[in-house]
Amino acid sequence: MNSILRFPSKKNKVTLEDGVVVKRHHDGDALLREANLLRRLHQAGLAVPALLALEEDALRLEYLEGPTYADLVDTMTPQQADSLGSWLALYHSITGSLRGDCNLRNFLWSEGRCVGVDFEDREVFGEPEVDMGKILAFAVTYHPSFSTKKAKSARFLLQAFRRTGGELSRIRQAYLAEITAMNQRRKGDPIGSQLAALFFAKLM
Ligand SMILES: Nc1ncnc2c1ncn2[C@@H]1O[C@H](COP(=O)(O)OP(=O)(O)O)[C@@H](O)[C@H]1O
Ligand SMILES: [Mg+2]
Repeated sequence: MNSILRFPSKKNKVTLEDGVVVKRHHDGDALLREANLLRRLHQAGLAVPALLALEEDALRLEYLEGPTYADLVDTMTPQQADSLGSWLALYHSITGSLRGDCNLRNFLWSEGRCVGVDFEDREVFGEPEVDMGKILAFAVTYHPSFSTKKAKSARFLLQAFRRTGGELSRIRQAYLAEITAMNQRRKGDPIGSQLAALFFAKLM
């Protein structure tokens, strides 16, 4: 029997069709960018889904079962945080560029390791701490934001990032910059920058 399940996706249509993930792109350039980077990362040994087929308007990807990091952000273990930290460090060393889109739905916990998905954006360059700060900003602002559980997970993430060489003041700067960027992107109630800074200070 054919079964189709749709994943939450803002820009594209991403479905699970008979055990294969189908990502239908809105933009041909983004489709090719994602296909090329996926092949490159896979060959370099980074945990990403295998590209099974490149079609005119879609990618067919190996399905990696498991929650996204957005789903487990309130219960993150040190092992899950470390795995994300190591994944990110390897990504930086392979590409020499930033991950960029650091929302936690782009990281899956599958078969006991972190796997990255979603590589359609153009390359962005900068300090590795920019990605680390962004990941932290996403992690602590998922609803309910700035909770005790978020602090626990953020502490594990921060420790993981520092273990791979992340420098604290740069991570903090990037975290606060991302909070500001979120406020510019989102309508509705702004996230208090003082609250965000205080929350970060308490992670140490
Ligand atoms: N290979 C995969 N295995 C399992 N789930 C996936 C896979 N690729 C994508 N997903 C799921 O689909 C969602 C959307 O895919 P993504 O590539 O991030 O698209 P978008 O560019 O629209 O954000 C992801 O957050 C994840 O939950
Ligand atoms: Mg995504």
